[in-house]
Amino acid sequence: MSKFKTINPYEITENPFKLIGKDWALVAAKNGDYCNMMTASWGGVGIMWNKPAAFTFIRPQRFTYGLMENDDYYSLCFFDESYRDALKFCGTQSGRDFDKAKECNLTPVFNEKAPYFEEAKLVLICRKMYAQDLNGESIIDEKLVSPQYSGDDYHRMYISEIVKVLTK
Ligand SMILES: Cc1cc2nc3c(=O)[nH]c(=O)nc-3n(C[C@H](O)[C@H](O)[C@H](O)COP(=O)(O)O)c2cc1C
Repeated sequence: MSKFKTINPYEITENPFKLIGKDWALVAAKNGDYCNMMTASWGGVGIMWNKPAAFTFIRPQRFTYGLMENDDYYSLCFFDESYRDALKFCGTQSGRDFDKAKECNLTPVFNEKAPYFEEAKLVLICRKMYAQDLNGESIIDEKLVSPQYSGDDYHRMYISEIVKVLTK
């Protein structure tokens, strides 16, 4: 039986700055019964088009990017501190080279529209509503460009509806 229960996005009590920026998330996406995940510490949650929304930023060179592009759904999974090493691994190694779930002893679950992990403490199931690449011409603060972007690798921004929230 699943250890998770569904809650309303408005019932999430954790601080999103800490959750995303300090604790980090795993972004998980699938192709059939294969799933890959990568660590993300940029992005946000809020409201867009009157819906609970997640804002996720993925560089095109990530293996996860291809999976995100192939499906309308992905998840943001949050873990307690004991999974820090797993998040470091998923943020420095690629699914092109490793079965990251196996390497990190994480258990993918496929009973929602996006894959997630049994070990997570909080899961946001996200449905893509909008995607757009950031571009150099639109950056107002010029100082951001050179430390962040060396070539044509601007993040793709996904604005997604949070369609389900799972917690324990
Ligand atoms: C703490 C941390 C935060 C990260 N945040 C992001 C992010 O928000 N967007 C992004 O594109 N990459 C981010 N990365 C980099 C990816 O997680 C990393 O390149 C990963 O190895 C990609 O895996 P993949 O090739 O299997 O998709 C982050 C890495 C770390 C360590």
